[in-house]
Amino acid sequence: MGKMKFVLVGCGRIATLHVAGYQNREDAELYGVYDKNKQTAEKFAAAHHIPKVYASYEEVLQDPQVTGVEILVPHHLHRDLTVQACEAKKHVSVQKPMALNLKECDDMIDAAKRNGVKLKVFENFVHYPPYLLLKELIAKGEIGEVQGIRYKMNNGGLLSCNAPASKLRAKGLGVKADECNLEPTGWKVDTLSWTWRLNDSLSGGGPVVFDDGYHKFSLFVDLLGGVEKVAAWIDESKILGGVCQDCPAVIMWKYADKKLYGVWDITSSEGLYIKGKYYTCDERMEVTGSRGILWLTRCTAEMLSEVAPVVLYKDGKTTQYWDIPHDWQDAFIRSTHDFIDCIKDNKEPVLSGERGREVLKFTLAAIDSSRLHREVKLDEYEDKPPMKKKSFIRLLLCKRKKK
Ligand SMILES: NC(=O)c1ccc[n+]([C@@H]2O[C@H](COP(=O)([O-])OP(=O)(O)OC[C@H]3O[C@@H](n4cnc5c(N)ncnc54)[C@H](O)[C@@H]3O)[C@@H](O)[C@H]2O)c1
Repeated sequence: MGKMKFVLVGCGRIATLHVAGYQNREDAELYGVYDKNKQTAEKFAAAHHIPKVYASYEEVLQDPQVTGVEILVPHHLHRDLTVQACEAKKHVSVQKPMALNLKECDDMIDAAKRNGVKLKVFENFVHYPPYLLLKELIAKGEIGEVQGIRYKMNNGGLLSCNAPASKLRAKGLGVKADECNLEPTGWKVDTLSWTWRLNDSLSGGGPVVFDDGYHKFSLFVDLLGGVEKVAAWIDESKILGGVCQDCPAVIMWKYADKKLYGVWDITSSEGLYIKGKYYTCDERMEVTGSRGILWLTRCTAEMLSEVAPVVLYKDGKTTQYWDIPHDWQDAFIRSTHDFIDCIKDNKEPVLSGERGREVLKFTLAAIDSSRLHREVKLDEYEDKPPMKKKSFIRLLLCKRKKK
């Protein structure tokens, strides 16, 4: 049997991390790309030595050579592109968040089932090697019974290549870029890559809790199982001019059928310099057990680069675990392998359509909790209706006036 052939649909910022997982695989290859912007696709294919550039999505789906597609486009397109691929009997990996609401998830799950193809939600945090080590240590009983988890996330700004106009903002904070003696940090993100994210009829919600949050909600479910209820405060803060992001925020939840709680707090500090090769978003997790504590000290960025990616406290001693791949890209490679392997071995991916829907429900219930000013039980959550497409201009204004 020849190699399975895969096509990337959408060649934007994140597509660059979807290439390495196909390298050195004897059973799979990155065969082609398609982007609605032909030049973008051609440039991407040339940069990554990908043999084929398709002229349309229909051409991808009609190609009998193609085993599966990876859908790497704005969120409002996830459902339709997934359903079309399933109908053409192609396996699908769709980037997070799975869709805009639960009805869309149902359509995607149904299309995959009817056509006998795999549906994977591509989320990388659950494949991050230090996180997998943390899970392994818990399973081995290193910290005893898990008693609770805390998650902390900081977005930075100062000299971040990906924070819109961060140099201007640094100046506004009284910090002159050329005076602060720091290297620019993070990777460059095209303005167009931000634009659709700030239109919630295209992105489905805010860039922090809804979009990036899907990673964190996936982790919380992957680590300790289903959630019974959630309570959240999600505020808004100005990014630039009148444009807002959905933070600061604090989100708390209770797991189903056990006395186990989690809390996630999010802050954005525009004057904070965060070291990192990718988005300058830093995450840390603390899992407390009956006999010890485990810390995961990073994922996307590397603010605490002098601390080991995993640290265990037990019996009065700390153990630092350094000997493990811990670049953010390593998580993408493993997630790609999960897609290839689930097709090859006819098994479910780590984040199947059903699990991806559960994660989206958790996300949407948290957002509802903040809106309704009360806790929301996931069993009682009513799906968010589809949104009418809005113009970008209308979204430039923050909902409330801030000081
Ligand atoms: N796992 C992660 O950590 C991570 C990080 C960033 C983005 N993402 C996800 O990846 C997806 C893409 O995000 P991005 O940051 O790369 O966006 P982007 O805006 O940088 O790139 C999107 C690309 O899709 C193309 N496109 C738009 N409509 C299309 C269509 N109908 N057919 C084909 N191509 C089309 C655009 O031309 C663009 O090149 C989103 O789902 C996003 O949430 C995940």
